[in-house]
Amino acid sequence: MAHQWRGIVAEYADRLPAHVQETVVTLGEGGTPLVPAPVLSDRTGAEVFVKVEGMNPTGSFKDRGMTTAISAAAGRGAKAVVCASTGNTSASAAAYATRAGMICAVLVPDGKIAMGKLSQAIAHGARLLQVDGNFDACLVAARKLAEAYPVELVNSVNPDRIEGQKTASFEIVDALGDAPDIHVLPVGNAGNITAYWKGFREYAGLDAGAAHPAVATRTPVIWGFQAAGAAPIVAGYPIDEPETIATAIRIGNPASWAQAEDARDTSGGLIEAVTDEQILAAHRVLSAEVGVFVEPASAAGVAGVLALAEAGRVPQGARIVITVTGHGLKDPQWALRTPDGSDVQPVRVSADVVSIASALGLD
Ligand code: F0G
Repeated sequence: MAHQWRGIVAEYADRLPAHVQETVVTLGEGGTPLVPAPVLSDRTGAEVFVKVEGMNPTGSFKDRGMTTAISAAAGRGAKAVVCASTGNTSASAAAYATRAGMICAVLVPDGKIAMGKLSQAIAHGARLLQVDGNFDACLVAARKLAEAYPVELVNSVNPDRIEGQKTASFEIVDALGDAPDIHVLPVGNAGNITAYWKGFREYAGLDAGAAHPAVATRTPVIWGFQAAGAAPIVAGYPIDEPETIATAIRIGNPASWAQAEDARDTSGGLIEAVTDEQILAAHRVLSAEVGVFVEPASAAGVAGVLALAEAGRVPQGARIVITVTGHGLKDPQWALRTPDGSDVQPVRVSADVVSIASALGLD
């Protein structure tokens, strides 16, 4: 049999802590495509790639951190895990916990998670509680539950999550031969920006990577984008009632706020806001022109790069990787709306070839 990708714990064993490797719980996560995006290169004057994290087993980047978090919990003999989630973490935690034979409790903001994610968590047997409060309230409750009861917290404040998620940076460097000039990603609870920065630093021989030969000669500049209605790091203070159509990043008080600022400042980067309109426009460019279907939050990075390009702030010729974090099928309703907000109506025809050809304008 040809070589099959074995999941990030096996593929990057030498770069991950020993305690996640004793009882490995994997669904084959990682090894996601780094896709050149000539349309985005043309629009920005840079050389743009998208790292398509929707290709992970549950359709988002969370699986990288969940294989390590659940493996570590399994190694300790944990019977139950809990997470707060805007949707993707709950889908991923539920799948990996089921695989490990554990109970998974998830706390989600009532009415504010996409249907695809809700169905995943339920399908995988999670004990799903819709909480009367936003994500930030769910996370406070999940942390308290894990302190007081025999359940382990698998949100990204769990360091094992960051260890797994840092492998996306490794894959990018492995694919390109070195770090890109700029790495771009959406920012919500700020675990992923923390993880990418850790991964890029380690592969450049810094921090924990000092024990290994350096793979990259440098680290990239990090650009993060928040949704305008949920942009606490941009504002400089927590947002009590965050609002955005990009429900995955509808977060007002990110747990890894300080780490996100460190990644921004140490890399010489930026964290800025994009509006819901810019997110939806980028979502359309990705699906209709690049050929990659993502959920709205995942388009925030592309929206940000397009906005900076319009403002003349994208360095010409720079190599830019934009992580698109979750699959479009998680939250497909946005594809069925036109830019002016009306519903897309499928064209109905009878089953004869003449009508079909005519409807296609082939006659
Ligand atoms: N993109 C998607 C699709 C996400 O689901 C998330 C976070 C982010 C980006 C932001 O990543 O939080 O590490 O800064 N989703 C979490 C969840 C909060 O519960 O699924 P972050």
